[in-house]
Amino acid sequence: MHNAEIRAAIPSDAAGIHLLLDVYAIDDQLLPRSTEEIVENIRDFYVVSDSRSILGCCSLKIYTAELAEIRSLAVSSEAIGHGYGKVLLEKCEEDAERLMIKSIFALTYIPDFFTKSGFKIVDKGTLPHKIWKDCFNCPKFPDCGETAVKKSF
Ligand SMILES: CC(C)(COP(=O)(O)OP(=O)(O)OC[C@H]1O[C@@H](n2cnc3c(N)ncnc32)[C@H](O)[C@@H]1OP(=O)(O)O)[C@@H](O)C(=O)NCCC(=O)NCCS
Repeated sequence: MHNAEIRAAIPSDAAGIHLLLDVYAIDDQLLPRSTEEIVENIRDFYVVSDSRSILGCCSLKIYTAELAEIRSLAVSSEAIGHGYGKVLLEKCEEDAERLMIKSIFALTYIPDFFTKSGFKIVDKGTLPHKIWKDCFNCPKFPDCGETAVKKSF
């Protein structure tokens, strides 16, 4: 993949991030996120981009001084398998460490991807109540089949 760069997202990336997430939201692999919501939270995001489009994205949502979530991790079908997913995850991890956040977690259908990067599978019940806000609005709640994974620094 030529000329692809990984960088902190800027507001004008929001529409491209929205399109990328929508591809995977259609079959429920990811939660859909509106462009407005993405713009408002753009500082949470890293992207992989080339001159034409957003090829990948990942965000770190902070919940408490000690805990944050890896959200909206996606790599476009044409860019899959080039290591971008892993690098995006690492960028968010670096941010968490810089912010002295002790643990990051994800709710995922592909726990193996995360365990390869040092995450451990945990009981969802060990995650604090406030993280379930999105889940309460989801039609699949409470039996979505997602696995909780967590990494502590
Ligand atoms: C998951 C996803 C981000 C991976 O992106 P990617 O750029 O292809 O991943 P990478 O090339 O960085 O892969 C890193 C490692 O994870 C492995 N991996 C990739 N996808 C995987 C999957 N679905 N399940 C298990 N392992 C996976 C790779 O084989 C690679 O392993 P290696 O280091 O031993 O070679 C991408 O497939 C995607 O966008 N999927 C749909 C959305 C989704 O499910 N997001 C996760 C939500 S929590």
